[in-house]
Amino acid sequence: MRRARPMNERRRNRPTAMAALACLACAQAAGQHLPPTAHYADWPAVKGARGGDPALDARVRRIVSGMTLAQKIGQMTQAEIKSITPDEVRRYYIGSVLNGGGSWPNRDKHASIEDWLALADSYYDASMHTDMAVKIPVVWGTDAVHGHSNVYGATLFPHNVGLGAAHDAQLVREIGAATAKAVRATGVTWAFAPTLAVAQNVRWGRSYESFSSQPSLVREYARAFVEGLQGDFGPHNVMATAKHFVGDGATRQGTDQGEARVDRSTMINVHGAGYYGALEAGVLSVMASYNSWNDAAGGVDYGKMSGAPALLTDALKRKMGFDGFVVSDWNAIGQLPGCSNASCPQAINAGIDMVMVPDDWKAFIANTMRQVQDGEIPMARIDDAVGRIVRAKLRMGLFDRRPSQLPGAGDARLLQDRALARRAVRESLVLLKNNRDVLPLKRGMKLLVVGTRADSLPDQAGGWSLTWQGTDNTNADFPNAQSILDGLRDADGAANVAFSENAQGVDAKDYDAIVAVIGETPYAEMMGDIAPSSTLRFGDRYPGDAALLKKVAQSGKPVVTVFVAGRPLFVNPVLNLSDAFVMAWLPGSEGGGVADVLFAAGADGRRANFTGTLPRPWPGVPCPDADEAGASRWLFAPGYGLRYPTRHDLPALPEHDEVKACADASSMPVFHTLAVAPFALYLADAAQGERAVGSDLNGEIAWPGDRPLLRLRTVQVNTQQDAKAVTWLGPGRFLARGAQPADLTRLAAAHAALQFDVVVDAPARGPVKLAMRCGSRCGGDVDLGPVLAGYAAGTRQSVSVPLECFARRGVDLAHVDVPFEIAADAPFAAAFADIRVSAVATANRRDLSCASVGVR
Ligand code: BGC
Ligand code: BGC
Repeated sequence: MRRARPMNERRRNRPTAMAALACLACAQAAGQHLPPTAHYADWPAVKGARGGDPALDARVRRIVSGMTLAQKIGQMTQAEIKSITPDEVRRYYIGSVLNGGGSWPNRDKHASIEDWLALADSYYDASMHTDMAVKIPVVWGTDAVHGHSNVYGATLFPHNVGLGAAHDAQLVREIGAATAKAVRATGVTWAFAPTLAVAQNVRWGRSYESFSSQPSLVREYARAFVEGLQGDFGPHNVMATAKHFVGDGATRQGTDQGEARVDRSTMINVHGAGYYGALEAGVLSVMASYNSWNDAAGGVDYGKMSGAPALLTDALKRKMGFDGFVVSDWNAIGQLPGCSNASCPQAINAGIDMVMVPDDWKAFIANTMRQVQDGEIPMARIDDAVGRIVRAKLRMGLFDRRPSQLPGAGDARLLQDRALARRAVRESLVLLKNNRDVLPLKRGMKLLVVGTRADSLPDQAGGWSLTWQGTDNTNADFPNAQSILDGLRDADGAANVAFSENAQGVDAKDYDAIVAVIGETPYAEMMGDIAPSSTLRFGDRYPGDAALLKKVAQSGKPVVTVFVAGRPLFVNPVLNLSDAFVMAWLPGSEGGGVADVLFAAGADGRRANFTGTLPRPWPGVPCPDADEAGASRWLFAPGYGLRYPTRHDLPALPEHDEVKACADASSMPVFHTLAVAPFALYLADAAQGERAVGSDLNGEIAWPGDRPLLRLRTVQVNTQQDAKAVTWLGPGRFLARGAQPADLTRLAAAHAALQFDVVVDAPARGPVKLAMRCGSRCGGDVDLGPVLAGYAAGTRQSVSVPLECFARRGVDLAHVDVPFEIAADAPFAAAFADIRVSAVATANRRDLSCASVGVR
């Protein structure tokens, strides 16, 4: 049963060396009070979801019955501020505008609170000055996902995963309220938050937007966050959004916008959990998710959520009783079969009430009008959608006053709540190691601070910070903020703290301790995904940070690592080099919270200890999501976290250097810089002679010794030393073989292809056979000669040959021991990189036809 997975793992899958820690984790987890999640057989009716306000409903009906079709469709349309003027809002009766991530009034990143408020007033005034009998105020939505995070100078709270570590619903409620105040002060009335993903896989570049992998915590936080944002719908509150409904955290291999392949019970009880909390708190809007859901066990493929009536209408609205409105995600309708960004009756019929059409809103309005007139979209559906939007606007009190007339509007002080954010940072930190109690630090100690994240406000803020991906920012973009380094200086006295980003020209031996602030650089949706075949090893992703740590650790001085990252990664080598290790997540603007806890003394003079515990499991292997990793894939269970005094030493951990890539259900890597287990590379002659290539990246092989047929060197095709350049001096083969045969039938069913990158150095004159083998007497080949002949020498090309072509040549895809073999004769020389069998449909995947490789 999937639902119970993390809990079971907590008990079962712990390495024995971790036994002592394990108990610590259990005790701390048991100390938390989390409401039990009931086990639902179907989507439950949620108490609090239904307004039950007949007077309000009557008012809504009166308003809707007085509206024209154009006005109704306008209300259902949400356009981006870069693409719509206030006057267009007036003329088209637009229901909503949004500013996307990294979009600001006048395209000015440093737009002032007055700029925001002025634009909000203009949109509002425009919406209230239409030629319609009933005027309906526009609502402005923004991704205020960790504070008012697109606004210059606003306090940035820790991203959701850090709040998850705090296990403090009251804190989350206060952050919701503070965020609402900041948003409302700029005249904006709607926050696209909270994200309620119960992210299961940290490969997902949005996993830091998820509070936890544990449904009960997400449910509790959902309620608290919505209560904080919406409050009693007063002048300091904003409309909240429960997003992304549903299963965004369930996608296979954590692929953004991917396919959730879970059974119904898992969808309802794990991934649905946050929605019960949000609906209980009366959330006014829900955003439909980009992902699709294939309930293979139940035999139902629901497709993309924005076109799934079974979820949006039957589950959310009918069964759960949601009476707010559903908004689609950014151009999400364009992803439905038969739809475009500007036309999608299916989505509206499925239950989308408001459509986020950032740019193509004009065409969308025209198309939708026609679809209603043609009867493609029933009028009743339109009235229901508009009624829901109007009801939410009435509840919010938006009809009553223009943005700048509200108390607090334009008050720049409301953009900040630094004390609250600093408290959140303190509570979010998780201490994973503290050998010999090197922490807390003592005031007056001589500290050497190293690492690129130490003095980087953009890095500690992460994605969705002023810009969409959190990239292209500098410290100057965050005026009311403190870096982790500055916090340490404040706490220890500036004279006691030396900073050297790369530890160049300093001798660590001159200091009492080293604080290494390392971690990830900012990312958000899509860009932040880690490919299924990549390891989660931190050193593979940030070799510079890993090398820096090695360097300073040589000094023998105590090393305290502060890890700034959106997700747990495989850090055993880092843990081994560190005496203490603190997971700081993405703390936001108040880096000072880190020093508070490292020195065990808050800025307020009060004692500070670690209280945070992991909201999701921490990987103990480089490929934790590979099924075969089995029992010991987690190093620390959710709930783990140390405090002072620690009196507990973490033993040396296995570093798994041999693992260079991960297996992946949608692809099987064969060679990626090194051969990927179970495969190994060989040079072979035309008969039975062969030699293994091995893992040496430097030497050159000429084989066989006396009169070589083949010569092999390591070269670069994509990244450093990632390719093997093979020169044919006579008839020979270059191949990858596994100790056991692999079953490729599942991949074949998913239209997989044998793929690799190639640079032809010397063209062949004879045939170049690409073969797969299935035991000594089974196999088949295709002729790559003509294809390779068409490539300009020295250029990198991607070859993709559908498995089907090999099957047609007699390869038994269920028992493939040699997935890749090139047989040729002199003259021919080419470099090969990134060999894999893959079903992943990347944008630049171009499959060769079987005919083009001689298979008819
Ligand atoms: C994201 C949403 C976000 C929206 C508006 C989408 O790409 O998935 O979470 O609210 O854009 O920026
Ligand atoms: C994001 C927006 C962002 C846009 C940039 C969308 O997917 O959600 O917030 O502004 O992409 O193109």
